[in-house]
Amino acid sequence: MSSSDFIVIKAEEDGVQVIGLTRGTDTKFHHSEKLDTGEVMIAQFTEHTSAMKIRGKASIHTANGVIESESKK
Ligand code: TRP
Repeated sequence: MSSSDFIVIKAEEDGVQVIGLTRGTDTKFHHSEKLDTGEVMIAQFTEHTSAMKIRGKASIHTANGVIESESKK
């Protein structure tokens, strides 16, 4: 995957969290976005973001295919 590829996250329940983790020696949460059912976030990996954590039920569309995250509720 090239860093210019977009990740599309579609929330399948209310309160899905998309959390960005920092690039570099420290891996920390730097941004958290809440999505409600049907809302979509389009994101990229950047100089500042090396990883993303998705909490809640969502479909995550990447260059490698579609992944379904599960709900904890
Ligand atoms: N300021 C962040 C950055 O440039 C914005 C961002 C990009 C982001 N991709 C993200 C935030 C993914 C959360 C999740 O890296």
